[in-house]
Formats: sequence, C-alpha cells, structure tokens
Amino acid sequence: MLATVPVTRTTHSRLTPELRDKAAFGAVFSDHMLMADYANGKWGDPRIIPYGAQPLAAAPAVAHYGQGIFEGFKVFARPNHGAVAFRPDANHARMNRTCRRMAMPEIPASTFIDGTMALVAVDRDWIPESAGSALYVRPVMFATGEQLGVRPSETFRFIIETCPSAPYFSGSVDLIAEDTYVRAFPGGTGAAKCGGNYAGSMLAALEAQKKGFHNVLWLDGIERKYVEEAGLMNVAFVIGGTVVTPPLGGTILPGITRDSVLTLLRDLRIPVEERRISIDDVFEAHAKGTLQGAAGIGTAAVIAPIGRLRHKDREITVPQMSPDSPLMQAGAELEGLRLGRIPDRHNWLKSI
Ligand SMILES: Cc1ncc(COP(=O)(O)O)c(C=O)c1O
Repeated sequence: MLATVPVTRTTHSRLTPELRDKAAFGAVFSDHMLMADYANGKWGDPRIIPYGAQPLAAAPAVAHYGQGIFEGFKVFARPNHGAVAFRPDANHARMNRTCRRMAMPEIPASTFIDGTMALVAVDRDWIPESAGSALYVRPVMFATGEQLGVRPSETFRFIIETCPSAPYFSGSVDLIAEDTYVRAFPGGTGAAKCGGNYAGSMLAALEAQKKGFHNVLWLDGIERKYVEEAGLMNVAFVIGGTVVTPPLGGTILPGITRDSVLTLLRDLRIPVEERRISIDDVFEAHAKGTLQGAAGIGTAAVIAPIGRLRHKDREITVPQMSPDSPLMQAGAELEGLRLGRIPDRHNWLKSI
C-alpha cells in the first residue's frame, strides 16, 4: 500500500512552460522535494516540502569524508494527467547496495518508491509532455553528522529532487580511452553510485574535452587494457552481429539501462556476450571490418552511438549503426516502451 507522505505546498510555484520544456538538463528543479532525516539508528518520516535551501552544519561529514551517494531515473507523462516511472525499484535496490558499500543506512521502499510516487503526483505539471522528454528524478543521500573523526556519520539526510529534462538530441559521442587516470579497481567503489567516483573522473573528462572528445572511455585499473565504461554510461560493441559488453565485476556501475537493453536483446534473440573486451580487440575488430557499431548506454540517452574512438596515438571512426542494427533496435524498443507504444512485458513501468 502506498505510504501517505505529508505535503506542504509552495505558495509560489515557479512553473512556466518555458522552464518546463526548455531548461538545460539539471538546471531547473521542480517546485517540491521529498526529505527525510536519519538519526538515533532510524529514518524519520519523509515529508514533501517546497524545494529550497535547508540548514546544514558547517562541518557536515559528507564535506570531509565523502559519504554522499545518489541515483537517477526518469518519469514519463501519460495522457489524462497520468505518469509512469521507469524501473524505480531497480534504482532503489542499487541505492541500497551503494549504501551498504559506503557504510550508510539503507533507505526503505516506502520512502524511496512511494515517496517518488507522492512527489511526482504533487509536481505532475512539471513533467514535460513532448515525446522523449521526461521528469528526471534524483534521489540523494549524504552524511550530516558534525564530526571530524573518521568514522561513518550517525546522521544522514535523504532528499528526492526532480528536474524537467528535454529529449537528448545529440550526434555520436567521441571518446578517448583513458591511459593516465583510472576510475575504479577491484575492491574499490566502482559499482557504487557515490559522488567520489564522479569527483575523481572530472579531471579526465576535462582533459578529454580539451583534446576535442566528449568524454573518456575508462580502461581497467590494473592492466589498463580492458574496456570498462564511458564517463556517464555503460558501453557495448557490435562485433560480427554479436553485442559484446564488459561484465559487471564490481568495477563498473551496473546500469539499469544496460540491464534493460541486454534483456530486450535476448528477447529479440540477438546474441549477447558479457565478457572482458580489450581496447586492442576493439581496434582489431575495426581493422578486420567486423566492428559494426558501438554505443554508450544509460538513462540520459538510452543508446548514444560512439563516433570517434582514440587510444594513445591511434584513432578510429566507429561505423554508424543503421536502425536495424541490434543496439538501435533494442534502443527503439526501450524508447517505445517508455512512451507507452510497446507493451510492458517485463513490468518495468510503475504507474503514478
Ligand atoms: C558511471 C555511470 N555508468 C553507467 C551509467 C548508466 O546507468 P543507468 O543506465 O542506470 O542510468 C551511469 C548513469 O547513471 C553512470 O553514471
């Protein structure tokens, strides 16, 4: 049963069609947010309040030792003021895995999932209506304890914020395989969605951008050889008709789009291999003419075809994929499902 969340409504809605439909990603927040605090070993009841600043200690533990984690998924408009969330239960499960890795308290489903439903119902008018637009939901949790001792905080804050998000229109993404910095290594936090992973990635992304690329393609932290994932997306390659993607082994984020795309590919009886693939294998497949395409896979774009790929002093242009190529087919299927044009066979959509 849906938990009831108390709501304090704003008296000054900021909603305008311009803000809702044209804002750059993550630049505009909807009128309300959900907030809950953890203290004395338990979560307090969540509440929905107007979006805005909240008092915080000057020395919150998150600022010192980085117990800060987040999630991200989308809600799509449906006719008659309806809406659907895409796999919020999978994001909830991933957030709780991140909590365990970061020694933070798990968040109950009644706060994460029912809270999202209640919040989106309150801010339903903020969901952009045009095809491909969505309301992006950003749950975040951080340590609020006022302490300098290096130990898990005893207090935390959980917030769900939402942002209208326009369709992701972009050409292909150009990536440079990173050979100086690493994102993750076995036993580290690569599979967790913690802020520190992103902080540690920013310099590499900036340097890639200076060289004329959109982002980096991370290689494994030990041999600097095996492909892991792109800056903000998982990756897959189409080689000789088979979709090849690096396995989940603790060093890459287990993307929910990745999981959805692999499931749809298997439904379509397209061969899929979750296996280690070296950057040399990718360049060799291109040289032999068997590399038929490659893409980043994630919530923002679903499938973002990779264009140029550089590693050290060699560079290739990955063949562009036609609409009937496996990854584009799975991407179109997922897009159709999110928009309600294709039946939801896997029960991925949660109605609001
Ligand atoms: C590092 C990283 N990898 C992969 C992904 C894709 O994950 P998802 O499909 O759950 O959005 C994201 C985006 O959340 C990401 O930040």
